[in-house]
Amino acid sequence: MKIVKVQDYEEISKKAASYIAAQVQLKPSCILGLATGSTPYGTYQELIRYHREEDLSFQKVRTVNLDEYYGLPATHEQSYSHFMRENLFRYIDILPENTHIPDGLATDPNAFGREYDELIVSLGGIDMQLLGIGSNGHIAFNEPDNCFVAQTRLVDLNHNTIEDNARFFESAEEVPRQAISMGMKSILGAKRILILASGKGKADAVKGMLEGSVDPMLPASILQLHQNVTLIADLAALSQTTESVLR
Ligand code: PGA
Repeated sequence: MKIVKVQDYEEISKKAASYIAAQVQLKPSCILGLATGSTPYGTYQELIRYHREEDLSFQKVRTVNLDEYYGLPATHEQSYSHFMRENLFRYIDILPENTHIPDGLATDPNAFGREYDELIVSLGGIDMQLLGIGSNGHIAFNEPDNCFVAQTRLVDLNHNTIEDNARFFESAEEVPRQAISMGMKSILGAKRILILASGKGKADAVKGMLEGSVDPMLPASILQLHQNVTLIADLAALSQTTESVLR
């Protein structure tokens, strides 16, 4: 795994956006795998700037998002559909029909998951997948478990994730208990993976991902098996990582 060590969140956002902008410039019809949450917010702000000031066009880009809360309609303020629309899509020239996000209201979420994985294959696979990392080491909503799960499917959220995400809701009780999450097969099928980590709260998960064994109890550790992963992390997120690993 290539590690790009930067000072702070702002620098993570600038670096990550420069990788994604380069991907779009090199292949205007690329497939981008996108993430939600606090971490990619700044990256999307920076991509909006690229669009406005550097004429970066997303007209031919197609996107697939990692996950969606189960039970929330796309119009709900805390849905990831809403997040993507309000924090990226409405400010760039991407065509709405080229953006894909799991349907939080799918009546058969596991059948939906199979179709989502097939859609990704039919698009030609993900060229660049953007990821955050949970404080418990999750990627997308693949939570710590006894085994890695390949398929996109309905998942139960772990108590850490519910607590971490309560900040976006009125209270922890309001956080949905389930989500549809992209599985490891589609994530690891991406040609390039960019994983971002900011802040002390991620430091233990980052250390485990880089220094531990490949272990489903720390889902991000599976990225050790991928040939083309770049971690962009700030000093706080790398504060627990052994110095020699960073050289
Ligand atoms: P965050 O979430 O960016 O809101 O910290 C990351 C994740 O859970 O993947």
